[in-house]
Formats: sequence, C-alpha cells, structure tokens
Amino acid sequence: MPPRPWYHKTSIYQIYPRSFYDSNGDGIGDIKGILQKLDYIQGLGFETIWSSPFFSSPQADFGYDISNYTDIAPEYGTMNDALRLIEEVHKRGMRIVFDMVMNHTSDQHPWFKESRSSQDNPKADWYIWRPPSNSPHFCKKWGERPNNWNSMTGGSGWHYAPERGQYFWSSFLPFQPDLNYRNPEVKKAMFEAVRFWLGKGVDGFRLDIFNVIYKDAEFHDNPFSFKLAPTEDDPSGFFQEAKYTLNQPESFEFARELRSVTEEFGERMLLGEVSGNRQIIRKFLGDEVNNGLGLVFDFAMLDFKFTADYFRALIEEMERHYPDPFMPVYVFSNHDKHRSMFRLGDDLRKAKLLAMFQLTARGVPCMYYGEEIGMTDLKQPFGSALDPLPHKFKLVPRFIFDLLGLFANRDEVRTPMQWDGTRNAGFSSAEKTWLPVHENYPSINVQHEDGDKDSLLNIIRALGKIRQEEGALRDGPLELMDGLPDGVLGYIRKFEDNKLAVLLNFDGQAREVPIEYSECVFKLSSGDVAKEKAIQLNGFGGMIIKL
Ligand code: NOJ
Repeated sequence: MPPRPWYHKTSIYQIYPRSFYDSNGDGIGDIKGILQKLDYIQGLGFETIWSSPFFSSPQADFGYDISNYTDIAPEYGTMNDALRLIEEVHKRGMRIVFDMVMNHTSDQHPWFKESRSSQDNPKADWYIWRPPSNSPHFCKKWGERPNNWNSMTGGSGWHYAPERGQYFWSSFLPFQPDLNYRNPEVKKAMFEAVRFWLGKGVDGFRLDIFNVIYKDAEFHDNPFSFKLAPTEDDPSGFFQEAKYTLNQPESFEFARELRSVTEEFGERMLLGEVSGNRQIIRKFLGDEVNNGLGLVFDFAMLDFKFTADYFRALIEEMERHYPDPFMPVYVFSNHDKHRSMFRLGDDLRKAKLLAMFQLTARGVPCMYYGEEIGMTDLKQPFGSALDPLPHKFKLVPRFIFDLLGLFANRDEVRTPMQWDGTRNAGFSSAEKTWLPVHENYPSINVQHEDGDKDSLLNIIRALGKIRQEEGALRDGPLELMDGLPDGVLGYIRKFEDNKLAVLLNFDGQAREVPIEYSECVFKLSSGDVAKEKAIQLNGFGGMIIKL
C-alpha cells in the first residue's frame, strides 16, 4: 500500500476572510487579520487552512466572482500579504489551500468583457455562447433561449448580450458567466493561474462547483423532473433533471488532468465541491486509484439526523464508497449552509458530540470558522440581504423557504467571528461591520470560552491534540463496534500497536457499555465515568479509551 498523501491525514479549518478578523478597522476581515490569528487556528489543532476567495473581484458574490486570478482584492490586502500568509502558515508546519473558482469568472473580468464585445474577437469563444433559438413557445422570451437549461439557482441560466445578439450561459448567477473549457486556450489560461499559485507555495485548492465545469457539447434539452427543490445528493430541481448541465464525463477527465498539473509541484490538495450522489463523487476521485481530485465533499451529510443509527449508517456508506486509497471528508457546515448549531437546536451537548465524531472518524474533518465556539445562524430579512442569492427569490415569502427546508440568505451564516465580549465581538474597530455581529456574542465568543475547561472550544482543542498524538485517529482504519446499547455508536481505530475505541452516546439518557480497556484517553463530560470493566456515558457523553 503506497503511503497516504498528507491531505488524507490532515484536518481543515475554513475561513471566510471577510468575516474572520478585520486588521484595519474598515469593517471587513482581511488577510492581515488572518495572519494575526494563525496561532489561534494552530492551537485548535487544525493543520490545513482553506480560505474562501480573496482574489480581485467586484464582490457581487463576495469573491466567488473573480476578475483577476493572480491578484488580490485591495479590501483584503496585497499580493505581499498573500505571500506572507503562505509563508507564515508554513512556518507553523501547517498548510494552506486557496479557493479556485474555475467554472466561471465575474462578468467584469477582462476576458468576458472582450468576449461579449463581438462575435469575432480573440476571446469570442472563451465563454459559452449560443444564438437565440426560434422554438415555438407561448412566451417569446422563453422561446428564444438556446435551450431549456435551468441554472443551479433556478430559472434559465441563459442571458442575452445585445452586443453579440447571442446568449451566454451562467451555471450560478447571471454575473458569473461560465468559461468554455472545450476551448484549449481557456484550459491553458486557467492552468497558468493554478501554476502561478502553486509556484508561490500554495498547498492546493478547494474547487468551486467543479461538477458543472463541462456542459453537454450538443446542448440537448434537460429532461423534465417532478422535483421542485434540489437536494444535497441530487442537484436536479426546479422541475428539471440536470442531466446535461452537471457531472458530464469530460468533467471526470478534467479532474485527472488538473491533478497531473498540480502534481508538477508535488503532492497538492484538490478538494472538490461537487453535488451528486456517491457514485458520482467517486468518479471525481478516480475510479479505482486516487488519480482524480484527492478529496471531495459529500454534502448529503449536511442534512444529518442526530442519532447513533444515522451516524453508523453514514460511516458504513463512507467506508463503502471511499475505502482506502480514498478518504471521506466529514463536513457539517460551510459558508453556504446552516451552521450546525442551528441544526442542533442550539444544544451545546450535541455540538460537542458532533465535533467528537467529526474529529475521530476515519476521514478529513473540515470545520467552518466559528463552529468551534458554537456560533449559530443570525436570521435576516431577505430584502436587506447583501448575499445576491435571496434577491433572486424576493417575491417568494420567507416562510415558503422555511417550510421546504430551503436555505437562501447566506448572510445568516457569514456573520463576523466572535472573538470577545467587546464591541463588534472584537472582530473590528469599525463603526459598522459589513454584516451585523450575532447578538449572542457576549456569551458566545473565544475569550469567554477560553477560560472554561468544558467549553466547546476547549473540547475541540483537546480533540485536535489527541488526533495529532494518536496515530490511529489519523492513519488507522475504522471498524464499527457491534452489540452496544441503544443510542451508542462505537468504533475502533487501530494503527500499528495503537488501538483506540471511540464511544459516543447520541441519547439524552446515560448508558453503560461493558468493555475492558487499558486507559481512558478522553472524556467528553464530567458525567462520563470510566469504571473497572465498563464505561458509563452521560447523556450525549463520549469517551476515547485505549484497548
Ligand atoms: C459555491 C460557493 O460555495 C458559493 O458561495 C458561490 O456563491 C457559488 N459556488 C458560485 O461560485
């Protein structure tokens, strides 16, 4: 068995730079702010940082609309700041991956401006352009669209450009035109951007909506579907099966090609954002060998149910679909979805147990900033959202979204990091921060939790340290334990002569597990008791023992 790549053993902390720490008092987080907090992240035990984009951008989608892939947006800092960030991360023995939005650029990118200017400019074919069609339709506008494709956010993804008398395609929002990867010049330009950052020492990339990178070459209409809302494991929705707009065979091939480009620089992380079922995710990783993207998020787990049965079945699925030489990513929140505290009904005991699961199962844990202190969603009206997404749905009353379990206003999970109990939660000295700070900051903040040895923050620190010290948790296979009391999930992690059992009680009632062990390594709560030949777990308690 070849040695595992470093990115299969690591743990990831996601930063949304705009909200992490503001070093210059303008109300917006920045790269220098991240630099000031590197020791904090290291102290949590995370080994790799993924930062959402800070490249040049009009910020219409807060950096996911790039206008220059090899420069930094001034509100976040300078090229020197970015280079210092890479250097300082490496000095601490950690790694950093940047966010590559390869599928689309901003409509303000010079490439797109040139491309839309005429049908015969040098970049005319860099984006996906189609002439109007004359399909019979009761609505002339719809009849003119090149085909029936919906964007991922609902509604047609075709947008008319009068300069060319043609439509361009956007998988996400209208100001994010998709690049045309069937044009070799586009591929070359993007690979150059990738090489630029790898040459500067970046350890890899998180890849934005990688599964839409290719669309059907023949532009076939997508079939009808009864599905209204897209789900994490099935992106079809808005009454359309996304057959020709997602997960095309060329995209799997492209994953391998990108992998070989990054490997010119050694072992580099490629972490894909892909929506689709597990067979699809596996294709992005590589069919038999790990030769595609090194890691891919499996977003179905964002809709977790807080039961031992759910997490047992999740492990079984992960082990079945991503066995060695693959590795699952355990992720429960990010900048686009509810925070896990929100899903857990603000129950801190459950948040601790979830973190313990995430940091001890066989996989790469990926934690969104603020989860370590239990930050939660801040409900905001759609009308005043800065996030462009809810504006698309401004005519739909909010309760419909809540009823369908849909999440649209991503401002709610992007509020400033809560560092302490001072004004603006210590995030910024500005009069006004770019998004409001959650009103729970006087009690939910780093400084407050620092002093409490049982806080979520300190539990995550302790687990991060154990993960680093116990090779079995980073490197060992996972074996599920059978015959445990109802509500208790248990698994064994073994590496060389290091054998650990992790026991997690997903029930609110105490449970006793008869088991022989040599040492108790970690207790989640003071109510978890290591008895002579048994373990007593408090309600929502957990323990790691050496066997
Ligand atoms: C997925 C990103 O996570 C999200 O924040 C962004 O808006 C879209 N891709 C478009 O780039």
